[in-house]
Amino acid sequence: MLDRFNRKINYLRISVTDRCNLRCRYCMPEEGVQFIPHSQILSYEEIKEVVEAAVPLGIDKIRITGGEPLVRKDIVELVRLIASVPGVKDIAMTTNGMLLHEFAAPLAKAGLHRINVSLDTMDPEKFASVTRGGDIRRVFAGIEAARKAGLSPIKVNCVIKTASDEPDALAVKAYCLENGLQARFIKQMDLHTGEFGIVDGGSGGDCRNCNRLRLTSNGMMKPCLFSDMEFSVRELGVRKAIELALSVKPEKGTVNLHNCFHNIGG
Ligand code: 5AD
Ligand code: SF4
Repeated sequence: MLDRFNRKINYLRISVTDRCNLRCRYCMPEEGVQFIPHSQILSYEEIKEVVEAAVPLGIDKIRITGGEPLVRKDIVELVRLIASVPGVKDIAMTTNGMLLHEFAAPLAKAGLHRINVSLDTMDPEKFASVTRGGDIRRVFAGIEAARKAGLSPIKVNCVIKTASDEPDALAVKAYCLENGLQARFIKQMDLHTGEFGIVDGGSGGDCRNCNRLRLTSNGMMKPCLFSDMEFSVRELGVRKAIELALSVKPEKGTVNLHNCFHNIGG
């Protein structure tokens, strides 16, 4: 499907939960996050219905995000369901890696193709500080398990403060080079002020070539990360929600006062 600006939209990012087992400083406050009540969260059957409706409209690439997708119960089952929809060519996931060691093999078996793992620094103490308690060894073990499971490519998402040549970023880059991983440097963004930029090594942030729609875990179809617009798949039906989101997809992102990274999935 083409939007008003002739961009081909073939990529749907699905946030399956707004919960997370970490509290990265740039993403979530330490305490007091208001999580979406379970009753509002789409079931796996509902998510599958969204995918089934989206594929005939031109979506062939799916990414599962969160929060942290691996904290949602039976996530492997969802991958299996999505992989079973004819016409889905590519299924990816973005994870913080904490549980990847356990899940990489079953996910690959269920039909996941590739994975992005977040890693902002190579320093274990700094990692624990940025993520408020994360164990960097779990990320490395997760990446190793992903490689053994045949997930490919494995990309590393590194959030940077200012430039991709800052020391933490260079260390992550060296680690990626040594280990055959693709590094992507994402400038720290602010949804509420509309601060964002092109992802170095990736496809995000490039409005002119944007190919995405987003589904939040409570069933809102969103045309753009940096926009408040959203359409309920439960209220409108999936097809209508997709069509409306497509019809208003903005030329450029502005601000999103409504969502936070943990409930829209980066
Ligand atoms: N700016 C940029 N990226 C962010 N993420 C979360 N919060 C932010 C932010 N403020 C990204 C991280 C992580 C992904 C899930 O979301 O890169 O890898
Ligand atoms: Fe969790 Fe990812 Fe947000 Fe960190 S950036 S708190 S890992 S959702």
